Amino acid sequence: MIENISLNNNFALNNCNPKFLNKINKTNKINKTNKTNKIDKTNKTLQSMAFSDTWSWNEFAQKAFEEILTNENSVYTNQTIKLIEGLEGVIKKDSMLAYIVYMTQRIQEIWRVLKPEGSFYLHCDPTVSHYLKLLLDSVFVASGGEFLNEIIWHYRRWTAVSYRFQRLHDNILFYNKSKKYKKFNTIYVKSANEEKGRKESFKEDENGNLARWQSLNGKKYKIYKNGKGVPAGDVWEISFIHPSAKERLGYPTQKPEKLLERIIKASSNEGDTVLDVFCGCGTTVSVAQRLNRRWIGIDNSIEAIKITKKRI
Ligand SMILES: C[S@@+](CC[C@H](N)C(=O)[O-])C[C@H]1O[C@@H](n2cnc3c(N)ncnc32)[C@H](O)[C@@H]1O
Repeated sequence: MIENISLNNNFALNNCNPKFLNKINKTNKINKTNKTNKIDKTNKTLQSMAFSDTWSWNEFAQKAFEEILTNENSVYTNQTIKLIEGLEGVIKKDSMLAYIVYMTQRIQEIWRVLKPEGSFYLHCDPTVSHYLKLLLDSVFVASGGEFLNEIIWHYRRWTAVSYRFQRLHDNILFYNKSKKYKKFNTIYVKSANEEKGRKESFKEDENGNLARWQSLNGKKYKIYKNGKGVPAGDVWEISFIHPSAKERLGYPTQKPEKLLERIIKASSNEGDTVLDVFCGCGTTVSVAQRLNRRWIGIDNSIEAIKITKKRI
C-alpha cells in the first residue's frame, strides 16, 4: 500500500514511446556540446513525432474503451463509465479520447493500490487538465475521496512568438483517497516581502509572539515570525532545470527536484512509501530516497530505468 503517488503525466511529452525517447536521449547527448536551443528544437520535433505515433484511436484504445464501458470486473465507478460514454459524444474517438481511456485504466489501478490515508498528485498541462480533473473526480471523489488543490506550477522560459499568450504553467491535481484522513504537512515558503528582500515589521502580540497582519482577498491573516516563512499557496514558482545545472541529466522530461520535494514532504513522512508510475529519469525516487521515504518507480523506457539506477 502506498502513501503518496505522483503521476507525472504531461500529455504531449508522455506520448513519447521508448523508441523515440532513446532517440531523444541520444540527440541530447550529442547536442549537449552544441548550443542548447538546438537541443530544444530537436527534442520538440522528436516529441511531436512521438505524439502522432502513439496517440491515435486504434485497437488498443477501442479495447480499453470497451473494457471501461462493460466494466466486467466492476472496477470502475458509474461516474467514470458515464464520463467516458459522454466524452465519446463530445470529443469523438480521436487521439484525446485514446489518451483519456489509457489514463482511466491506470488511474483506477493507482486508486486501488493507494492507502486509505494516501494522497495522489497528477502532473499534466492545460491541454488536458480539464478532462483529467473530471476523470479524477469520477474515480476519487465518487469513491469518498476529496479534490484538494489544482496547483499551478509557474515557470519562466523563452518561447517563440505565437498567436496566443505564452504558456508558462503546468497543472498538478492533488486528491486524497478518503476525506476522513487529513495527512498533510504544511510547507513553508518565503513571504512575498522576503522574496523581494524587504524587511518585515513584526510586533509583539498579546501572547508575546512576534506577529504582523496581512490582507489577502479582503481577509486579514495573522502571520507569525517563526523563521519558517509563510504556508505555501497553490501557485508555485519553480524554475525549470537550467541546461547547464548540475542536476540536469539530459532526460528530456526531467522535472526539478524542488517540485517533487515539496510534494513528497507535504504528503508523506519518513518511512512512508512513494510511487511514481511514470518515473522518467527518477526525480521522484531520488528525492524520496534523500528524504528517507521508501519508493517504487516504474517506467517503460529502458533508458529511463538506466538513468534512474545510476542516479540512486
Ligand atoms: C513526463 S515523463 C516523467 C518525467 C519524470 N518526472 C522525470 O523527472 O524524469 C513520463 C515518463 O513516462 C514514461 N511512460 C510513458 N508511457 C508509459 C507506460 N505505459 N508505462 C510506464 N511508463 C511510461 C516515459 O518513458 C517517460 O519517461
